[in-house]
Amino acid sequence: MASRARNPSAWAGNHEFLITRVESSGRGGSRGTSMLSRLLQSTRKHWKNYAVGFVTLLALVWFLSKSSYRREQGSRKALFIKSEAASCPVSYPKLSIKEISKGSLPYLYGGKPPGCKNCKSNDLVGKFCQYGMTGHGQCDKGQIYYLVQQFLDREFYEILQFTPCDLWPLLKGRTLYFSGDSQTQDFMKAAQCAMYEFTDLGWWELDATGANPGPRQEGFVWHTDPGCILLPEDTRICFIRCDTADCVQKQVVERLSKASEKRDLLVLNFGLHFSKTYKEELEQLVQQVLQLRREGNFPFLLWKDTAPQHFESTFGEYPQDKPKPPMKCVAVGKQFEPDPGEDKWILKKDHSIEVLYKDFEDIAAGGWRNKLTNEVMSQAGIPVVSTWNDTLPLWEFHRDNGHGLECTHFCHPSAPQLWVYRLYETLAQLRREKQIETF
Ligand SMILES: *[C@@H]1O[C@H](CO)[C@@H](O)[C@H](O)[C@H]1NC(C)=O
Repeated sequence: MASRARNPSAWAGNHEFLITRVESSGRGGSRGTSMLSRLLQSTRKHWKNYAVGFVTLLALVWFLSKSSYRREQGSRKALFIKSEAASCPVSYPKLSIKEISKGSLPYLYGGKPPGCKNCKSNDLVGKFCQYGMTGHGQCDKGQIYYLVQQFLDREFYEILQFTPCDLWPLLKGRTLYFSGDSQTQDFMKAAQCAMYEFTDLGWWELDATGANPGPRQEGFVWHTDPGCILLPEDTRICFIRCDTADCVQKQVVERLSKASEKRDLLVLNFGLHFSKTYKEELEQLVQQVLQLRREGNFPFLLWKDTAPQHFESTFGEYPQDKPKPPMKCVAVGKQFEPDPGEDKWILKKDHSIEVLYKDFEDIAAGGWRNKLTNEVMSQAGIPVVSTWNDTLPLWEFHRDNGHGLECTHFCHPSAPQLWVYRLYETLAQLRREKQIETF
């Protein structure tokens, strides 16, 4: 649009080109009005042919749109995003539920698009992000297919059909900062892997000013120093490790108030590292961020809720007697009174939790940690990426931390990739509500 306005002569030239074409098509050399009247005459003579042609064209358009709609197998949303997906730097054809049922892996769970580049790299990140490794905190292949089957059974098709090109328009031109504890680091890793075909597979250190990423490191976010991955069109995904609100204030707020833009995004969670003053510190942090955003350039803040743990205790938390790995991970509540062995809750197809036993009502509210933080966030108007409900059934997807199985962290790909999908949904919703800038 802008270039057209700036250069009217080129546009007029284009117009002339059209007229010349009509003139040279052999219907006579006359210009303007006489050409129009010839056209009208011929229309009157041949109107039946035109009508037949028009109806055929309509039928063809209808047929094409129907078949592309069917291919999407999804909601209207998918159609709406389509034109944006066309501008995606990597091509990810949508998988159908039929293909997934027959064994094609969803992109979030290790599926590769045809013609992918980084998937052929021997780089550790390239290998890790395809989720076929043994060790490295990865799920085994059987676990991955088992999880896909769980999603199929619950008709959670959106996560199975998600493509990185759905997320791309929401990230393009922004920096997405993650900050938090080791769970948030897993979240960042899952986001990095979702977008790994867009990157140079490198990890760029973030200096104290937060402005200049570099130098480039091989490897991964298991460098815990602050750093970023770089995507096309001035897009970055960064991680700054912080286990407390105090750390976020010193490490993140300082940096970002110097180097970030209003369109950038900051996703926080340090929910497992609790203290007596947790609530007050969190409230203070949130108010500080809102203030900075009102005054100048500071990212849009999102809170991610805290995922459930699956230790052998009533609500799955790390037991008082501090056992050491290897540990047994269990379905929350199931082995406890009353009726040991019976499920105490179910996750329904609409992603809500139904509690079956009265004493387990806290589970429907996200556990005590999320009850507290959700309240802080809703009072401050901060959106929450809600992952608790869908993570609750994933007790079979914890990982060996090198000393044996523990029941806090999850193997890749399982829960952290679900969180990426939830982040996508939250951002899409925020954009529909015009709470985050659109481009
Ligand atoms: C989680 O489950 C609770 C209880 O049924 C429900 O109120 C809440 O909306 C659910 N959260 C999501 C994100 O679906």
